[in-house]
Amino acid sequence: MTTKDLSKALPEIVTEQVPGPKSKELLDRRNAAIPQALCGNTYPICIKQGAGAMFEDLDGNKILDWVGGVGVLNIGYSNQEVIDAVKAQADKYFHTIFNVYVHDGYVALAERLNKIMPCKGDTMKTYFANSGAECDENAIKIAKAYTKRNGVICFTGAFHGRTNLTMALTAKKTYAVGMGPFPSSIYRAPYPYLYRAPKGYTEEEAIQYYIDELNKIFDEGAPANEIACMLVEPLQGEGGFILAPIAWVKAIRKICDENGILLIADEVQCGNCRTGKYYASEYWKEAGAAPDIIATAKSLGGGLPISAITARAEVMDAAPAGTIGGTFCGNPLACASALAVMDIMQRDDYAAKARHIGDVVMNRYNALKDKYDVIGDVRGLGAMIGIEFVTDRETKEPATKLVADIVRNAMQKGLLLESCGFASNTIRFLAPLTMTDEQMEKGLEIFEEAIKEAIA
Ligand SMILES: Cc1ncc(COP(=O)(O)O)c(C=O)c1O
Repeated sequence: MTTKDLSKALPEIVTEQVPGPKSKELLDRRNAAIPQALCGNTYPICIKQGAGAMFEDLDGNKILDWVGGVGVLNIGYSNQEVIDAVKAQADKYFHTIFNVYVHDGYVALAERLNKIMPCKGDTMKTYFANSGAECDENAIKIAKAYTKRNGVICFTGAFHGRTNLTMALTAKKTYAVGMGPFPSSIYRAPYPYLYRAPKGYTEEEAIQYYIDELNKIFDEGAPANEIACMLVEPLQGEGGFILAPIAWVKAIRKICDENGILLIADEVQCGNCRTGKYYASEYWKEAGAAPDIIATAKSLGGGLPISAITARAEVMDAAPAGTIGGTFCGNPLACASALAVMDIMQRDDYAAKARHIGDVVMNRYNALKDKYDVIGDVRGLGAMIGIEFVTDRETKEPATKLVADIVRNAMQKGLLLESCGFASNTIRFLAPLTMTDEQMEKGLEIFEEAIKEAIA
């Protein structure tokens, strides 16, 4: 099958079950060659080729991908224009180390991001790293350099990566078992998870509760004048696809302004057109609460490793020479890919695609919620949607096993899903924004069948 045909194909399982024999063989080789920690059995899938929102496994099964490399594939698999841009760059040179000498892709990409990043201020500067964890670390370095302070506030449910600093910032400690010691001066406040706010609170009261809890850090953790920054995901990914309400964002912006603290938006997963704007922080900026620094990665490079850190020039220029950069940061192939991705996303209005997909999926998920008591909450923004399953709507007990069953059932029918949240009881929707309406419809059908089977 050509990639062109695959991009329009519908899910189809041709083997008795997934994995088929060829995939099983590769999985056996994987298990022998790779550390066990990377050999989970939830997804026994081995890819042969991908196109648009679809991929084909080694046995010819065609699978619709609603995980999208956990937010990397907003542009879909194998976009020909991106392939051509990377090939053209590969013909010229693969690598320079930007700390030593300059290539124009790095500068051009920084200029493009400086124009569109909705940070606080007028004149932006950007530099690059390789991964989500690295851009978060770098955003904190910049905040420390600018404020000359070292405290960092992070939130419950947060995921920021697997380096030593970002493991400390990440909430779920299964990501950090036995990996300490961790850096000090990190303080955690509750993220405004409205579905699980204290019982009986109105939205307004709940937001005030979360702000009061945050303010306690300044009494019980460290004085505000020792805090460099707060690191916030505008829409939490791993934590369960939870949207920070704008009223809460405005309140934390105010706390930051009153105390000389920098507000960092971690747009690693929610950036690059996913939420219906190019960056989710545009919603914050429209409400007068723009972040000081934005860190983004994943779909920025469309599959090649690159991440970006952007802030106003005055903040960025505070970092002493030598403290930022690195061998592969802003690699020419990754910059060429990111530039092509941005051309396409702006030209073809991927933010509008996210809004369209988001409308359809959100409506259908809400209809499913009316039908099935096991669905406790449907939430999100644009095409970043979470559907949370519970065993009881009153107690909100997480339906962890049910979700694992739904994910497994869907995979056997050709739909790739992934859970998230503190109890892995939320299913995330991160389909490539190139998904056709027909594929979306088929995916929604499979999703409902998978729920029905799991309940039965
Ligand atoms: C919000 C957020 N920040 C940071 C990261 C870490 O990114 P990476 O795995 O590229 O280091 C992730 C990864 O899922 C993420 O979702």
